[in-house]
Amino acid sequence: MEFKYKEPATEFSDGLAVIRAYHDNLLATGERLLKLSFKISHHGVGEAAAIEAIDLHQHYTRANTLHHADEEQCLFPLLVGQDLILDGMIERLTLDHEEIEQWWAELAGFLATPEKISDMDRLVEVAFQFERLQREHLTRENEDFLPRVEEQLNIFHLQQAGQGMARLRGLSAAA
Ligand SMILES: [Fe+2]
Ligand SMILES: [Fe+2]
Repeated sequence: MEFKYKEPATEFSDGLAVIRAYHDNLLATGERLLKLSFKISHHGVGEAAAIEAIDLHQHYTRANTLHHADEEQCLFPLLVGQDLILDGMIERLTLDHEEIEQWWAELAGFLATPEKISDMDRLVEVAFQFERLQREHLTRENEDFLPRVEEQLNIFHLQQAGQGMARLRGLSAAA
């Protein structure tokens, strides 16, 4: 089976639209992850579960890496130093990214080689910890952070962020 990355963002003229598209995608992917971990813990790793595990591994590897880079390299630098509350939020969100990446490192080991999963309890625990952290983080960004960011950035900044995100994907700035 050949994996093809499905880019959640449809266009890059507005960096915040890219961020929101990734949030929707990652929340939905989290539901797939929880369903899969339950399925494996109850029924073991059949062929369909193995394919789903590898698909999730490939998707998260690319989507989470890009999404954290979008925020840390293209969005946060446009915001730091203007508003103390926003600065505090950015610091906290960056620490969240590190914690999410630490849990991902263990979860990735399970999902990359599903045929080798033997400790079902640990799989479920790691999947739930990772998904809960990620969901809480995305929800905090959607509800507290992005509304404040929208007040700070003008259309030029949104385009600038989007162009940076396009470049991270090797797309032309106008894509
Ligand atoms: Fe984030
Ligand atoms: Fe985010």
